[in-house]
Amino acid sequence: MAEIGQDLAQAKRLLESGELVAIPTETVYGLAANGLNAQAAAKIFEAKDRPSFDPLICHTDTMDKVERFTQNIPAQAYALAEAFWPGPMTLLLERQSNVPELTVSGLPRVGVRIPNHPQTLKLLASLEFPLAAPSANPFGYISPTTAQHVDDQLGEKLSYIIDGGHSEVGIESTIIGFENNMPTIYRLGGLSVEQIEDVIGSVQVKAHSSSNPSAPGMLKSHYSPSCPVILGEKLEEMMKAYAGKKVGILGFDYGLEDVAAEDQFILSVKGDLKEAATRLFTGLRYLDSRKLDLIITTQVPDTGLGRGINDRLRRSAAKG
Ligand code: TXA
Ligand code: MG
Repeated sequence: MAEIGQDLAQAKRLLESGELVAIPTETVYGLAANGLNAQAAAKIFEAKDRPSFDPLICHTDTMDKVERFTQNIPAQAYALAEAFWPGPMTLLLERQSNVPELTVSGLPRVGVRIPNHPQTLKLLASLEFPLAAPSANPFGYISPTTAQHVDDQLGEKLSYIIDGGHSEVGIESTIIGFENNMPTIYRLGGLSVEQIEDVIGSVQVKAHSSSNPSAPGMLKSHYSPSCPVILGEKLEEMMKAYAGKKVGILGFDYGLEDVAAEDQFILSVKGDLKEAATRLFTGLRYLDSRKLDLIITTQVPDTGLGRGINDRLRRSAAKG
């Protein structure tokens, strides 16, 4: 098991010597290492059992530092950075040659984010290099939103986890790149399409493809508990189809009376999408611990944060 604590000086020491540290962010916890050091970044791929074609996001704390490892930043990227950083948004920017191939899986762009979490911002301010950090879960499993989640899954693989409480947003950052100057969303997430369009006008969304060459990590199946997740229209109808099985329910704003309360997790009784996003991965993990035959769930309203939640639900239900 890793040590869980709030010692930023210790975290800094470990990171400066090329070691892994798990860091809290407002979206999910990240498994961090020096993003400009290939040997350090390699430890991330190894610990997560992550394929090397899936690039890492580099986190830092100021635009000045972003400019030390990126170039030719489009005006719209500056406008988005100004509006939403620190926050749940990742920009794909042209990289400089100081970013190792491994960090970006050989791609011409690097994912960059200034996360909005007080301890992590303080840590980043104390470092000369950006922190490459994917979500701190084994590849393909549910993303972590507490220090304990990280320890449960990856505790053997690293020595220190910074405890920053429960991640407030609860789903990963929205990823935005620019294709011939056209802003493009590659992953729906904690920042809504509506919020982005308010700042830079219309954007295209390319987040649904199962094999998107611009974002190789956007695999169709992800966020998967150990039992099947079935995504349907109505919980009541689905229940009938699985009579005799031990069924768990991941409900948006209600559950079913004939299923044991402890086999149900309601995302937001009041139907609030923000609350639902915060609780989504905790709910999936909880149900996964119940040793069920399957989990049934339905989509949430497909607006605002709901689009990011639905993307995660579709992918946790996808096979293969
Ligand atoms: O909220 C988040 O973004 C969290 C926290 C820790 O910041 N991080 C996160 O990282 O979700 P990860 O590795 O689980 O997902 C990042 C995805 C990758 O799967 C990859 O597809 C895409 O971002 N990505 C990163 N860098 C890219 C690049 N240079 N080009 C294309 N896609 C990239
Ligand atoms: Mg991830």
